[in-house]
Amino acid sequence: AASDPDLVARARAAKEALGDKVFVLGHHYQRDEVIQFADVTGDSFKLARDAAARPDAEYIVFCGVHFMAESADILTSPHQQVILPDLAAGCSMADMARIAQVEKAWEALAQAGVQDQVVPVTYMNSTAAIKAFCGRNGGVVCTSSNAEVALDWAFAQKGGVEAGTKVLFLPDQHLGRNTAVLKLGLGLDDCVVWNPHKPNGGLTAEELRDAKMILWKGHCSVHGRFSADVIDDLRAKVPDLNVLVHPECQHEVVLKSDFVGSTEYIIKTIEAAPAGSSWAIGTELNLVQRLAKAHPDKNIMFLDRNVCYCSTMNRIDLPHFVWAMESLVEGVVVNRIEVDPQTEQEALVALQRMLELPG
Ligand code: 13P
Ligand code: SF4
Repeated sequence: AASDPDLVARARAAKEALGDKVFVLGHHYQRDEVIQFADVTGDSFKLARDAAARPDAEYIVFCGVHFMAESADILTSPHQQVILPDLAAGCSMADMARIAQVEKAWEALAQAGVQDQVVPVTYMNSTAAIKAFCGRNGGVVCTSSNAEVALDWAFAQKGGVEAGTKVLFLPDQHLGRNTAVLKLGLGLDDCVVWNPHKPNGGLTAEELRDAKMILWKGHCSVHGRFSADVIDDLRAKVPDLNVLVHPECQHEVVLKSDFVGSTEYIIKTIEAAPAGSSWAIGTELNLVQRLAKAHPDKNIMFLDRNVCYCSTMNRIDLPHFVWAMESLVEGVVVNRIEVDPQTEQEALVALQRMLELPG
């Protein structure tokens, strides 16, 4: 749907009035009506890195979800204020690992006698408290674009897989499993799933002792919907189809795909694809629709029979954006995201370890 011209004009006027005081970051899953106002667009890694690119900007308006805005607050200077236009823009995956549950799991790993061998790694899609947990326990943050190097780094911290090192991977079991099996060459049976709703994660001491990857039982409800059957159906109908998916998809889906990577990788892959080629893309619908529109010479389709937007990403709409921006013009900061200093300090350790990873 076309955006309301009056709101577009108001957003433009507010942005002009604020000038260099405001820096607008936009994740690739944002709506067209919002992404058009972003100074920088990117995947989670690029946005984390670029958040610090404008230390002179007083306000950072983050068009994305809560955990991304928290990370931007941690990575920017104290005088900069990070704003999330709708506070209800969370991430259901990030909510699947609560700090009290993770602390309890850590304690259980100590009881089982394996904690000394474990390095925690958290996906960016987690709360600041979980990132802080990783920071104070020798761990690291990763995103979908650097999960392989982050896992290599983590295993190397305690002598490597051969020495019995284990990774506790939070909160996305799929990114953890896909990376461990398809990039590091570990076996599916080297991975166990920690269920926070069961005593001892639902695992025996022996299973924990033998595991190399302890995967938190979290997932993305949007990417969880893509299925291997649909890939089979599409391949039967479309000759020379390329299947391109995000690593948050289930393992069977990634196994049947041709290409897997972050949202930034998905965009670059489509940009580099030859005219006339066919692509089925398994990621959030705003991005797939934008790619289809930008590349009319390529046959781009969505890898699902149904519509699947990320409902929380979509909460950042033009009315909320205009409200946040016009409030700033009036000198009022609405919806500030501010991580407490202790959490910030510890989370920064884990985020900086990620930013220093090779590659
Ligand atoms: P990217 O880091 O690939 O942009 O992914 C973020 C995300 O939330 C995917 O669901
Ligand atoms: Fe979270 Fe999934 Fe939405 Fe990404 S697509 S923000 S992982 S719910």
